[in-house]
Amino acid sequence: MKKLLIITALTFAFAIIAQAADYKNLYDSKCKRCHGETGEKKALNASALLQGQSADAIEKKIKGYVDGSYGGSKKGIMKLQAKRLDDAQIKGLAEYISTFK
Ligand code: HEC
Repeated sequence: MKKLLIITALTFAFAIIAQAADYKNLYDSKCKRCHGETGEKKALNASALLQGQSADAIEKKIKGYVDGSYGGSKKGIMKLQAKRLDDAQIKGLAEYISTFK
């Protein structure tokens, strides 16, 4: 029984780690070229820095790009990026980005 618990706990932990790594991959392949490795770049010289923002704020902004309620003069570019993501990906990316220091 104890063994089973440990195995379950480990499986769970690995699943979480694997998922976090997925969002790093997603960020690196889809966002990094404009926003920088750790959100330290002003994308196309136009965006605010992603670094230092909360997961909540990032999630709201990405969803705002999708529905057109958020953005500046280059929001069309972000809309293209954002509308390809599903809700789980937006949430996962936002959580990953919020770890940038
Ligand atoms: C082609 C370059 C490019 C790519 C790729 C890109 N972005 Fe952006 N991003 C921008 C630009 C430009 C803006 C500013 C747009 C505006 O005028 O609102 C922006 C703005 C943002 C903002 C809002 C920042 C703020 O505080 O106002 C978030 C959040 C964001 N991007 C997340 C992402 C994520 C997540 C990805 C990957 C899925 C991504 N971006 C991919 C160019 C890009």
